Amino acid sequence: MKANSPFRMTRRDFVTTSAATLAAGKLALGASGAPVPEQPAGSSFRVIIDTDPGVDDALALLFAMRSPELKIEAITPVAGNVPLDLTLPNALRMVEIAGRKEIPVAAGAKQPLLRRLVTAAYVHGQNGLDGVVFPEPTIKPVSQPAAQLICEIIRKYPGEVTLLTIGPLTNIAAALSSDPVLAGMVRSLVMMGGSLSGGNITPAAEFNLYVDPEAARIVFQSGMPITMVGLDVTRKATLTEEHVRALEAGQNPVSQAAARIARNAIEHTREHGFLAGPNMHDPLAIAGFLDPSILKLEDYYVDVETMGELTAGQTLGYSPVAGDLRRRPGMEKDAAKLNMPIRGSAPTLAGTKSSPVVRENYVPNAKVAVDVNSARFFELLIGRLSGATVPIPRASFSPGRHPDAV
Ligand code: BDR
Ligand code: CA
Repeated sequence: MKANSPFRMTRRDFVTTSAATLAAGKLALGASGAPVPEQPAGSSFRVIIDTDPGVDDALALLFAMRSPELKIEAITPVAGNVPLDLTLPNALRMVEIAGRKEIPVAAGAKQPLLRRLVTAAYVHGQNGLDGVVFPEPTIKPVSQPAAQLICEIIRKYPGEVTLLTIGPLTNIAAALSSDPVLAGMVRSLVMMGGSLSGGNITPAAEFNLYVDPEAARIVFQSGMPITMVGLDVTRKATLTEEHVRALEAGQNPVSQAAARIARNAIEHTREHGFLAGPNMHDPLAIAGFLDPSILKLEDYYVDVETMGELTAGQTLGYSPVAGDLRRRPGMEKDAAKLNMPIRGSAPTLAGTKSSPVVRENYVPNAKVAVDVNSARFFELLIGRLSGATVPIPRASFSPGRHPDAV
């Protein structure tokens, strides 16, 4: 990493980097409006999966590696659900189980940009896989750190790579901060993270954003086309006993491994007193990329709270057209005409005289998933994990029509 490595970032560095990344993103999406090249028809999508396995990450990885539409250029574990010294071997284990040893795995950040690591071992178990023990991986990570590999791959295939992020966004923010033009070379980013309807680790924040809010803010301000698959929809993607039985019946190593993880997860969820769950947060983000018709997406300007005493990591979605407000015919969807400035908190007596204006005009920076076809999602997830060929409707997985196609 460079001398100003975000792994050693100060809050001042963060503010500067964040602004620089935003400027770079603006330029990259730029005045010239130069379109990012389209993927050749019929080919697969190049993706990098950034992850913190993690029970649902492990299932998401297996699912992705069983999806022929994805050309997985790398898997980049990060500290999150458990520390990196567990997420890294867990990712290697999944690669080995799926028989996909050709996929490079690169070690990511050990800790968030500016904060101490908070883990979720209370959900994912001490080993991150809810106590399921798989053999030590025989494959090794590549020599480059994750952020460097992410930069190399995106630069090798400008405009072609989608980042599928299912953990805290530290690695991605580190990559963006080390290469100011990178954001403009990314095809899109689809994240499991955030929420417009309350958090899961605090009332305000979803776990991935809570762990590294500063990194998330860099990502949302980068200018990359972003799809946010947050708790608004992942809470509706609940694993059932029937799903676990279907996995147990699958006669292949991936299905058997997924079944063991899912069996433990469902049992522990019941032991904790929940009648439903666990939620398949991370696999839903992968599925939403594979088949966007599973999700209902709406445009928002999303920003991330980084200063809050109780709310850091909260995602705020601004939209002048969301909800039930009735407008004059012709004005319902015309956000530009509504010219809504994006405001921060009310000024304090000691501070500025007026509310800070974060953006002069409303311009969406993310498509936010607001509803999900849960039945279709589980058909795809459980079908593919258990070894069935579940096709994706052609109209959905067509680069020209894909919502992140530009
Ligand atoms: C997210 O947090 C993690 O615990 C899960 O793996 C998922 O990525 C859900 O809030
Ligand atoms: Ca995760």
